[in-house]
Amino acid sequence: MHDSTMQKALSFMEIQHNFSLKKYNTFGIEAKAKQFVAIHSVQELKNVLQENKATQKFILGGGSNMLLTKDIDALVIHIDLKGKKIIKENDDFVWVECQAGESWHEFVLWTIDQNFGALENMSLIPGNIGTTPVQNIGAYGTEIKDTFVSCEAMTIASQEMKTFTKEECHFGYRESIFKNEVKNQYIITSVVFKLTKTNHKINTSYGDISVELARKNITNPTLKDVSNAVITIRKSKLPDPKQLGNSGSFFKNPILLKSDFQKIHQQFPEMKYFDISETEVKVPAGWLIEQAGFKGKRFGDAGIHKNQALVLVNYGNATGQEILNVSKDIQQTIFKMFGIHIEAEVNVI
Ligand code: EPU
Repeated sequence: MHDSTMQKALSFMEIQHNFSLKKYNTFGIEAKAKQFVAIHSVQELKNVLQENKATQKFILGGGSNMLLTKDIDALVIHIDLKGKKIIKENDDFVWVECQAGESWHEFVLWTIDQNFGALENMSLIPGNIGTTPVQNIGAYGTEIKDTFVSCEAMTIASQEMKTFTKEECHFGYRESIFKNEVKNQYIITSVVFKLTKTNHKINTSYGDISVELARKNITNPTLKDVSNAVITIRKSKLPDPKQLGNSGSFFKNPILLKSDFQKIHQQFPEMKYFDISETEVKVPAGWLIEQAGFKGKRFGDAGIHKNQALVLVNYGNATGQEILNVSKDIQQTIFKMFGIHIEAEVNVI
């Protein structure tokens, strides 16, 4: 690219200083970015990375899975790439590529409008497309890895593009290569999903969904029916970040070896659990937190949601540190009571 062309591209991007991130994180925490820039194209992203090689960088998507406990002494790059397109289809399936800055939920609603199936159980999850593979988002029996084909990502150090296939992403429960082996090395710019056009695999096995459909007397649910059921359930349990700052589940559900779990279960026979393999069980952290008496509690402006104990909330002016302190208190109490360590799902910055 000629220098003059690059100047032109750069002029569209304005680097702001001492920029408030309150509107850019769903917890609604007041924290400042030393520098901030919003990116609208892959070329802009390349330019910003090249122009700021020596500067510390922090990549920000929808800000829906992080707790800011301090100001960010770096250049915050907000990924605002938009657009989606069908890149391939046959009689049964469609491959859709979506840019990283699109809202996940709006994308899900669009797929349902097109009668493309497989994402309906993940309706109303906050956040943007680009961050969905990072923690392999999931809800109501479905995870992103079930429909994920590949993603495009820019190497931060060299600005080269790389395609990650599903196998390369090493997906696990709220885990991927992007949280582990290649952490902070890539910026995801788009994701390809493979969705059904016919023979949709309607999955109502997660208890709450079948209860909600039965309540509405729906026996043969469409994609839209399932999506609506999920939306109703989520709205009844999970606070809307626009009304009450939060980051969804703050903790992961702990996974225990069956042999360890059996000892704990003898002591607490009412403890809920789900078999996840021959050797492991998952215990709902929400249940543990509720038993420990934290559900609905409030400490200043930091609290634990009244309908879902796994969700920590900001009543207005909580600092990230205050929410972090509540989370530590919960972890310590759970460990003392049950001997189980619960790990944060949210990225603590
Ligand atoms: N439970 C309680 N008290 C609570 C909350 C939960 O006792 O306050 C127990 C209940 O026994 C319930 C069980 O926990 O049967 C499971 O609860 P729920 O179905 O609400 O799901 P979860 O395990 O608490 C996970 C995901 C959510 C996802 C739901 C539904 C994690 C960390 N969280 O929560 O994801 O929406 O399942 O699939 O895996 C997120 O990651 O941000 C998120 C909201």
